[in-house]
Formats: sequence, C-alpha cells, structure tokens
Amino acid sequence: CGIIGYTGTDESVVDVLMTGLSGLEYRGYDSAGLAVSNSSLAIHKREGEVTALEAAIADERLEGTSGIGHTRWSTHGPPSDENAHPHTDCVDSIAVVHNGIIENYRTLRSELEADGHEFDSETDTEVIPHLIKAARAEGAGCEEAFRQAIRRLEGSYAVAAVFSGGETVYAARHESPLILGIGDEGYYLASDAPAFIEYTDRVVYLEDGQFARVDPTGYVVTDPRGAVVDTAVETIEWDPEDAGKSGYDHYMLKEIHEQPNAIRKCLRERVTEMDATVSVSELDELDHDGPVQFVACGTSYHASLYGARLLREQGIRAQCFLASEYDTEMQPVGGDTLVIGVTQSGETADTMNALRAANRAGATTLALTNGVGSSAARECDYVMYIRAGPEIGVAATKTFASQQVSLALLTGVLSGQYSSQEIRRLRDLPDQLQRVLDESNARTVAEAYADAEAYFFIGRGYDAPVALEGALKMKEITYKHAEGFAAGELKHGPLALVTENTPVFATITGDANASKTLGNVKEVEARNAPVVAVTDSSSDVAQYADHVLEVPAAGPRFTPILANVQLQLVSYWVANGLGRSIDKPRNLAKSVTVE
Ligand code: G6P
Repeated sequence: CGIIGYTGTDESVVDVLMTGLSGLEYRGYDSAGLAVSNSSLAIHKREGEVTALEAAIADERLEGTSGIGHTRWSTHGPPSDENAHPHTDCVDSIAVVHNGIIENYRTLRSELEADGHEFDSETDTEVIPHLIKAARAEGAGCEEAFRQAIRRLEGSYAVAAVFSGGETVYAARHESPLILGIGDEGYYLASDAPAFIEYTDRVVYLEDGQFARVDPTGYVVTDPRGAVVDTAVETIEWDPEDAGKSGYDHYMLKEIHEQPNAIRKCLRERVTEMDATVSVSELDELDHDGPVQFVACGTSYHASLYGARLLREQGIRAQCFLASEYDTEMQPVGGDTLVIGVTQSGETADTMNALRAANRAGATTLALTNGVGSSAARECDYVMYIRAGPEIGVAATKTFASQQVSLALLTGVLSGQYSSQEIRRLRDLPDQLQRVLDESNARTVAEAYADAEAYFFIGRGYDAPVALEGALKMKEITYKHAEGFAAGELKHGPLALVTENTPVFATITGDANASKTLGNVKEVEARNAPVVAVTDSSSDVAQYADHVLEVPAAGPRFTPILANVQLQLVSYWVANGLGRSIDKPRNLAKSVTVE
C-alpha cells in the first residue's frame, strides 16, 4: 500500500493527493481513496485503480488546505469501496490511512466494540480512527489522541491522520516506510518519493518510532516520548522525466530497453580494466572473509541464486534463503557471517524482517538495493546501490540485470580475484545487451506460442536462475501457467506435464553444461513439445529447436544475463498479445510491505 499526506497553500489539495496516488500506484492498485479537510472531512474512495477514484471525484469541488490519500494492496478484507482507505470513526471527524499490518487489531476491535464503537470495514486499519476517537472522548487533544492510539498498535505501520476542520496532518511510522517532503508550498508525507517528487526533492527520512506533525507553517518530528528530534534534510537525486514512458506502450518495455544504460551506470567508476580491479566505494570499509547468506524474495531471490553461485565459484561459502523462510530456520549466524539482503525496493517486509533477525544475531549486514535511503539501506551496516534508476513496471526487469551485475562486482570485491578478461566482459555487457534488444526475434516466438497451455523453462548452472526468472516473468504478466526448473529436474516429475501444447524454453549458454541440458531438450522433443533455445551457439541445440533466441557470448558467468533479456521480451509480447495489464498485473504489487 502507499500513503500520502499534504498540507500547504497549493491551490488544489486534490491535485497534489491524486498526483501522489498515481506516483504510489506501484505499491498497490486494488482501491484508492482520499480525505480532504475543510470545515468537515470530504472522503471519497473506490475499488479499482486510481483512475476509478479520479472519475468518481471529477465533478466534486473539494477544497481545503490538507488531506490524505491511500492506494491499497489488500491484506485484511478483499478490495471493495468499504475496505478502501481512508477509514474513519463513523462520524467522519477523523480520517486515517495506513500501510502495514496491525497484528493486535482483533483484540483492539473487540475492546472497542465492547465500548460501543461500530465498524464499517473488515480492515485492521479501522481500529486506528476509533482508538483516536476513544482518546478524544477521554479529553485528549488531537495530537495526544493520535499518539495514544499509535502506542496501542502492534505490528507494522506508516499512518497518517487528519481531523475535520484541521490543517494539520499527523503521522507515525514503525517498520513501514514514511518520508517527509519539504516543498515551497507545503509539506508532504508519503511512503515513497515518487508521490511528491514533482513538487520537491527535499526530504526527511523518518525513523521507526518517530512521529511527524505538519501544518502549512512547518513541520515537527518527535520521538516516542514526544521530544523534538533534530532531523537532517536530504536532497534526492531523481529526475521526474525518468518516470515517463518515453513513447513506449508500457513502462515494462521501456525498462527492458533501459538495461544497457542501467548496467553502464552500475559499472561506472567501479571497474578498471587496466589493473583488473573492482572497487565499490560504498564497500571500502568492508573487510570480509567469512560465509555469506543471501535473503531475498521474488526476482531478487533469483538474482541471489546467481550471486551465491558466483561467490561459491570463488571459494566463498554462500547460501540463499527466501527471506520469508529465513527466521523459521535461521542457519548459525556469527560475527563472521555477512548477510546480504537483495531487494530492489529496499522495503520488502519479508526481507526487512530477515535483515533485522540477522542484525540481532550479530551478523554484518549489507543491503544490495535500488532504493536510495530505503529501509534496507538504513537497517544494514553496508549498502551497495545497484543504480538502475526508477522502475515503475511491477514486473522487475532492469533491476534484475542491475542486481546481477552488482553481484558480479560484489564477488570481485569479496574475492579480489577477477581477471582483466572478466572485467572486459563486464564492460562489454551493455553493448552486447543492446545487440540483443536490436536483433531479438522474441516477438515472433511469442506470437508462435501465444495460445500455449503452459510454458516451461529449463537451464543448468548459471542458466538455472534464468529459467526460474523466465517463468516468474511469464506468470506475472500473462497469468498463464509457467514453471522454471533446473534442467535435470524436468525428468523427475514435471515431464508429465509436457505436451505438444507446452513450449519448453531451454537456456543453454557456455559449454560447461551444454551437453547435459541438450539431453533434456531431446527428452522434451521426444514428447512432441516445441523447443525454444536461448543460446550463444556454444552448443548444437539450435538443430533440435523449433525456434532460437540468440545471444552473444559473454563468458559463462555473464551470458545468462543476456539470455534473461530474451525471456523478458517473450513474456512481454505474449502478455501484450493477450491484452494484459502489463505494468500493473492483477493481485500483485511492486513493493510488498507486509509479511
Ligand atoms: C514483489 C514484486 C516482485 C519482487 C518482490 C521482491 O513481490 O511483485 O516483482 O521481485 O516483491 O521485491 P524487492 O523490492 O525486495 O526486490
């Protein structure tokens, strides 16, 4: 979910809030809503994307100096007008938006219901305005009532509240992101900077446990006891232009095409071919020779599988964990363990939770992220930025490539063993990736298999994470059944699913594992399944394949990065042919800030 709050002198509070909601839609788009404070609170909310809310308020005259808004990714209660935020105290004198999960909401709700409070929704959030109302009834002022309510909450939250007739927005955070924007015409509170970047790039990153109060004349940040905190104002480097579609039909396609540049930026000043060195200035102080544990989710987990393999190949012990599973069976973590959270957003709750557990256990932690100033960046001892630039499409593309390249750099830093040939290969990667984009026949392949029943992806070694990621991309944006397997596993069960209606995408790069994967391709072919080979021609797979998606050879470690791009394009074109909502696939959110 994403939240926005605004107070100030901008002529249209609604425009500011709606801009904010559009900028936050990547965090969820099941429903959206806003509240504008004037002599009373005007509240509007709708199931569906932000455009549905926009249509609903098109004829309304909503005036005021402050307001809050929310775009939702459902956790408690399905998407509906009732469950959309803001939530109120029934008489609409307090409106609240919330991102996170209130773990003790059932207890609080029963308690409030016993005291006569009536609830309109199934959400955990609705307890907050009722708690505020209860505190107000006991005589607390607005701010004190807000603080008292927040103190009762267990779980994770970024909360913003407005009161009827007031100009002040109150906010608090605990384990969910919240930043304060300082503009010329007012103050902004939001889950993330895209919500207000059009208005200001000056921000204060709020810490867990802090409260903020903003009105048109200024802002105050306080700690849990109410003491005023001295805050640092930072400037974020973000060009709003980057966030446009630049003529592409979808952000996803634009971002796929941005990959050569993203990788160039990632490598800049970090590799020197002359003396074959890799240096990442953020990691200058990192001196580590113990084991490494990766924690990550989704696409970032696939990047971690790749990174762990790179490290192991250099003799460094490295394991990968799904972040959501990490604290269910934490491996021994000592002071010599480096736990690396790979997370595009830097905000994924599962990953944050794993990193916090690692910190508690005494490990050294490192965030590998695109999110400058994100929660992960601030939680960890070290941070390495992948420098991919804003990624708006929910399905991760360029951030995956940038994560892979960053992990290759990190391997160089930790092992100190890269050859100048490897460095050259890394430097050549952006141009080779450009060639893949310019010459790809992925669209033809996608059209040939648009009606397939299911899609399977196989690969061995460094190609195995590519198979997993290829399948994830396909299911995320086409809603079709897709599975990825380490090539050898196909015959141990999944082969039963293979028919003439299930194309198998076999990634075979480099020659180390080619002959074995080729054997798997023949098994598939014998069952009449169409075969699409993604290959650098290091094997003769092309002669067994119905279609070939070619990539240049970039050495065994880096060619799979190129192969993955072909699979991104295939998924894109299949989804496009099916008319799917490519940038905002159903049920998904780019950044999932609940566990
Ligand atoms: C969500 C997104 C995925 C992403 C995963 C991890 O589920 O839909 O695309 O891979 O979160 O996100 P992160 O920001 O931690 O990389």
